[in-house]
This record gives sequence, structure tokens and C-alpha cells, in this order.
Amino acid sequence: MPLDLAHNVNPHGPAPAVLSTLAGLSAADLYEYPPNFTAGRPSALAERLAELCRTPVDRITLDVGGEGLLKGALHHLVRPGERVALPSAAWSHYRSLAVGVGADIVEYPVAPFGNEYIVDIDALLELADTGVRLLLLAGPANPTGNPFPLDRLPQVLAAFRESVVIYDEAYYGLGDHPPDIAALPALTERFPNLLVVRSFSKLYGMAGMRIGYGIAGDGLAGFRDRTARYLGYSRPAELAALAALDSPDHYDEVRRAMVAGRDLIHRSLDPFDGVTAYRSQANFVLVRLPGYAVGPVRASLSAAGVCVKWFAEPQFVDCARITLGTHDQTLTVLHALVSALSRARRHATPRRADLIPAYQMAAAVNGGRR
Ligand SMILES: Cc1ncc(COP(=O)(O)O)c(C=O)c1O
Repeated sequence: MPLDLAHNVNPHGPAPAVLSTLAGLSAADLYEYPPNFTAGRPSALAERLAELCRTPVDRITLDVGGEGLLKGALHHLVRPGERVALPSAAWSHYRSLAVGVGADIVEYPVAPFGNEYIVDIDALLELADTGVRLLLLAGPANPTGNPFPLDRLPQVLAAFRESVVIYDEAYYGLGDHPPDIAALPALTERFPNLLVVRSFSKLYGMAGMRIGYGIAGDGLAGFRDRTARYLGYSRPAELAALAALDSPDHYDEVRRAMVAGRDLIHRSLDPFDGVTAYRSQANFVLVRLPGYAVGPVRASLSAAGVCVKWFAEPQFVDCARITLGTHDQTLTVLHALVSALSRARRHATPRRADLIPAYQMAAAVNGGRR
């Protein structure tokens, strides 16, 4: 089986409590409609999320992953020909969704500066009075891993008061610092046109459950009605998500493993001239290779049975996006990458010839396992 490090899933997986909850499902959990429907209440998951996010429960929307929310929002809120502003370096699916509703797409610049992608907030603010119907912000962003500059977010939201603003936080909780689950939801009070999108696919390791949630301000009540379900949502997915939310220690360990994985990738690739591993706050790292190294690296990864994400977009054409797997999986991909880079060309060899690649040290610390 090839090692899939191409899809930003989280092989640390869900908390043990999630698996035991699923193992304990009864037939009635499946053949009955969810109890909130029969009791005429909001779903238990929405109630729990509202409590954690310190927000009224009617602001919580559930859907089939972050994708369901993003697609639903674009279809409900944007008419053909209306303007949608997207980051210039972004998840390519944003563009597909905007094209799907016939939007007039405009981009605001997100560009590399050293080893980090930076959102050009001043250029973004210049779009504020140009009739943007929907602005999409992302942080941490895919595939670049950069955070959105949160200190400037209120300024951006104030400037785009007349637009719908979606903040895609699918990669919530994986950054260098412990997350604050209520921070962005709090902004929906001051900015009723804001929709925060989150997912159980990434931090919570439950991409297969297909569940995500949004926090939508009161200006988006029509969209909330559209996502509300008379008969409820998937019972197994809701129970699994509730068990995940009740397992904060597990997810703090996952986050720490991500911090360590990113650090290992940086230390392993830093010695190579012409290679840039962009700073990331997500469960992946985007790596730019010198053109001549792309072929050898691809061949080496493929020989090692490792799949990473390569891109068709010109701006990422020499880039590989590596999903952070378990520690051993990260060692495997680094071994293939570093060996190929070392062989690729004289000037791709480590700047410091005596330096032992970080992944080898990590492997040694782990008793030579890889
Ligand atoms: C930036 C971004 N947003 C949203 C999603 C949607 O994820 P899901 O539908 O699994 O919640 C993804 C998935 O990879 C993503 O990369």
C-alpha cells in the first residue's frame, strides 16, 4: 500500500473514545432518526459546539465537512456574475466552487516572503469598495500553511461589512500554540456577515465521517435555515464528533506531534540550498524544490511508495505538499527526499557537509526505527 501523504488527512486518527463510541452504536442509533428530531430540539452536537464556542446555538450549522458548508454558502449566497474574492495562493477547490456558481472571481495577493506566505492585507483592503459579494479568507491556508494575520482581521471584517465573509478554518487547532475555540466565533457578534467554517476532518482525524461545522452570524440567517435539517444529521457522525470534543488531551497530543513533525521537516531540509520549506500552522508543509531536483525527488518518493501532492498551478509547479503523518511516516518521506536531494546535484548537497540530517538523528533517537 502506498503511503498517502497527499491529502492532508490525519493518521494520528480520532481519540480512542471516538472509536469506542462508534463500536458501541446500537441498531436503533442507525434505524431511528436522530433523537433531537423526535424531541424537537437542536442537535446535541450543535448544543455542545455552541457551549464550547460561547455562541448562541442557532449560529451553529452542521454539514458534510467544511466542503459542504463552503459549497452550500456559495450556492446560497452568490448569484452568477457576482464578485467573489479569493486568495491568490489557495486551495484550488475554492476556485472550482466559485466557477460552479458563475461568480466573477477576483484574487487578492498571498505571496511568498522568505520561507513564509504572507497575505497582502493592504491590497485586500483595496478590494473593499469594489462590489465584492463574498470574500473568502483562510487560515491556516492550504497548500501554503500560513496563518491569516488575525491582528488585522477586525479591520478586514469592518471594511467588508457589505460583503459576506467566509473564514475557512478547516485546519483549526494544529498550530504551534494551543487553539482558542471561541476566538473567531466571538467575531460573529460584531460582524453578522461572518461565517467561520471548521472541520472534523483534520485535527480530529475524522475525514471519513464527513462532518464539519460553521458559526454563522445573524446576517446569514437565511443560509443557516438552508443548512438546517428537519430530520437531523448523521447520528454516528454526531456521536463521534461529541466524543472527539470530549477528548481534549488526545488532540493536544496530536497538535504537539504536528509541531514536532514540522520542526523535523524544517531541520532536515534547511541544509539544502534552493529548497524552501514554508512555515506552516497546519498538518502539512509545502516544500519548493530547485527545478533540477523535482524529477529525482519524484522518482525517489515513488520508489519508496510515498505519495505527496504535486501541483498543476504554475505558482506551485516545483512544489510538493507533504502531509504530516505519524513520526515514522514523516521519517520515511524525509529519508526519500533527503537522499534524492543529496544525489540530485552537487549544489543541492548540504551546505554544511558535516551535518547529519535531522531525520537521521530523529531515527537514531527512536532506536533506528524508520
Ligand atoms: C482549505 C480547506 N478547506 C476545507 C476543506 C474541506 O475539508 P472537509 O470537507 O473534509 O471538512 C479542505 C480539505 O482538504 C481544505 O483543504
